[in-house]
Amino acid sequence: MGLRIHIVQAELKDLPNIEALEKQSFPDPWSLTLFEELLANPSQSLYVAQKEKDVVGYMAFWKILDEVHILNLCVALPYRKEGIGGQLLQFCLNQYSVSNVGLFSLEVRQSNKKAQHLYQKFGFEIKAIRKNYYPNHEDAFVMILDLNHIR
Ligand SMILES: CC(C)(COP(=O)(O)OP(=O)(O)OC[C@H]1O[C@@H](n2cnc3c(N)ncnc32)[C@H](O)[C@@H]1OP(=O)(O)O)[C@@H](O)C(=O)NCCC(=O)NCCS
Repeated sequence: MGLRIHIVQAELKDLPNIEALEKQSFPDPWSLTLFEELLANPSQSLYVAQKEKDVVGYMAFWKILDEVHILNLCVALPYRKEGIGGQLLQFCLNQYSVSNVGLFSLEVRQSNKKAQHLYQKFGFEIKAIRKNYYPNHEDAFVMILDLNHIR
């Protein structure tokens, strides 16, 4: 279901597009340097969703022991509500088997109900609050998909 997209590993050439989408989408955007560091770090993963040759979304995550932490997820404004965010999230979940990952985790702004709905649709639950997590002092919800629990 949803728009036909390709999800591929991000390359250096994608970073300007990613940076532009990041600036349009977040009040406290990551810097280009942060994305460069992400690409250079073998334990971290950065993927882009391409429609034809355009970057229409991206996602970053990393694995620490048996936990996968989702660092970033974003879809370009004109392409939202067409299933791309869900496809990116499903792609991340599909990278790992239940034998080597126990849980997926992430932080999301308390006010970001759209993203919370997306994560809840995939079984994530709000498990904790991190006070003043964001630069504007907004709290973060910690959301967890606990595979041990649903297995
Ligand atoms: C959050 C975001 C990635 C969702 O991407 P998307 O491609 O629009 O999501 P999808 O089309 O796959 O939607 C999947 C689910 O998300 C939820 N959702 C998405 N947009 C929503 C909206 N406007 N209102 C309510 N729920 C919404 C719904 O549960 C939806 O499922 P449904 O279509 O069956 O109702 C996108 O809105 C975005 O990039 N936002 C800005 C960046 C951001 O907030 N990233 C998350 C940081 S934690």
